Amino acid sequence: MVEISTSLLSVKKEDIVKVIYNLEVAHTDYFHIDVMDGKFVKNDTKELMLHYATLVKQISNIPLDVHLMVENIKENIEDYISLEPNMITFHIEACKNEEEILEIIDYIKKNNIKVGISVKPNTKIEEIYKYLPYIHNVLIMTVEPGLGGQKLIPETILKVEELKKYIDKNNIEIDIEVDGGINVENVKTLEEKGANLFVVGTAIINSEDYKDTINHLK
Ligand code: DX5
Ligand code: ZN
Repeated sequence: MVEISTSLLSVKKEDIVKVIYNLEVAHTDYFHIDVMDGKFVKNDTKELMLHYATLVKQISNIPLDVHLMVENIKENIEDYISLEPNMITFHIEACKNEEEILEIIDYIKKNNIKVGISVKPNTKIEEIYKYLPYIHNVLIMTVEPGLGGQKLIPETILKVEELKKYIDKNNIEIDIEVDGGINVENVKTLEEKGANLFVVGTAIINSEDYKDTINHLK
């Protein structure tokens, strides 16, 4: 089953309300909120993304899929708890050790929010295996985090395949989310390899008709 999580990263402030309405009508499954702190990645979208997520909550019932590309994970989780996101995903590369990772997982779950762990393109997928029993989602970055509108890095497709094999072998129920450079050309391959949740930014936001593009992706 293909679910689409539309990234609002590339939406201009003056267009955001119209875009949220249009994406609601187009039946995006999630709104993907790309939180960047200017430290984990050089872009800083903290204020803008909190504003966008707040607007989504006011306008739509479609769930929030929050992607934290930040160093201080707990501090940024706090900003979003009151918005009751469906899921919060953090980067394993921003954590010091296993203890911190388990602590963050518990903290998110304690707030009745689903937990995802994300890996950058150069991070081995094996690094998250030991956390799979405790989380709901793995977000495999198919571009270097920090920017929208980049091209998908083909090598990352192998990580989707590897993870799918591992979770099937070990009977683990978990979502595989892919993020970055996803479009109608590569979505099928990624689904065949095992991804079921697709973050799409510019390929939807820059398209003529959101509903048409989302249906085409599905
Ligand atoms: C990049 C973000 C992605 C990005 C996706 O750091 O995590 O969610 O906004 O946008 P596109 O689909 O344009 O690559
Ligand atoms: Zn993202």
